[in-house]
Amino acid sequence: MSFRARHLLGIEHLAPDEITTLLDLADSYAALNRSDSKHSDALAGLTQINMFFEASTRTQASFELAGKRLGADVMNMHMQATSLKKGETLIDTALTLNAMHPDLLVVRHPHSGAVSLLSQKVNCAVLNAGDGRHEHPTQALLDALTIRRAKGRLHRLTVAICGDIAHSRVARSNIHLLGKMENRVRLVGPPTLLPSQAAEWGVEVYTDMVEGLKDADVVMMLRLQKERMDGAFIPSEREYFHRFGLDAEKLGHAKPDAIVMHPGPMNRGVEIDGTIADDINRSVIQDQVEMGVAVRMAAMDLLARNLKAAKAEEGVLV
Ligand code: NCD
Repeated sequence: MSFRARHLLGIEHLAPDEITTLLDLADSYAALNRSDSKHSDALAGLTQINMFFEASTRTQASFELAGKRLGADVMNMHMQATSLKKGETLIDTALTLNAMHPDLLVVRHPHSGAVSLLSQKVNCAVLNAGDGRHEHPTQALLDALTIRRAKGRLHRLTVAICGDIAHSRVARSNIHLLGKMENRVRLVGPPTLLPSQAAEWGVEVYTDMVEGLKDADVVMMLRLQKERMDGAFIPSEREYFHRFGLDAEKLGHAKPDAIVMHPGPMNRGVEIDGTIADDINRSVIQDQVEMGVAVRMAAMDLLARNLKAAKAEEGVLV
């Protein structure tokens, strides 16, 4: 098996064969999820703890369902409501949980790097469910699986990632993944929302949607991350939609069979026209949600196997 990682902290340190291994397994979980009996015992006897220090709807639900379908004992910690309020540090919280012997820890945190720090203090496998504006690896993997299933391949595609790139961990993880799999990545957005280092990332940068979308195979829209903005980055939402919101006219510049993606939650009428988002001939937004569960099942299964192998090597009975 070619998946060697001990934690899933980002896409940056994964090799292309590890990505392919994970996506292949996720494909088989996608089939299981469409069957009548959605259970496997890959995580039977293991404990999964979800720690979300930032609001989440689909990612948390998806990780919870993934763990339950694989037979793990799943616990959701409501971090706003716990000792954090009483001033406990991230590390103390992690050490407390570690003492309860979890096998998988799924963490979302508003600070870039916090999840990696935490992974150094615990004995279990840690999955990054989004850290600040840094990485969101399972999102990029579910996007990759959605693209591979819709396009029949995951290489030599032109992918336009559009909107608020500067504040987006989804964009960063996707740039790593799509680049490793040899695709052409374009970033499209207003200069205020494009990170200054973008030119060093091996991507093409555009500030005009018509040019950026020209002949694209995949159009990936991103939400304006208002909660990460300190001050005004756009003149108004109306103006933003006019210049950067995806509507039928702008999409007309991409390839006729281009697919439309969005990680959610969507701001309809701001970064995407509601009609496009709901167009089942173009939009794969619901497929992304479906693939999210399958990808998280695959990620936790592979990490649990590596954890068991590592413990067996250390002579610990599991
Ligand atoms: C993304 C996130 O939280 O980074 N959403 C998600 O995981 N479904 C993108 C976003 O919040 O815009």
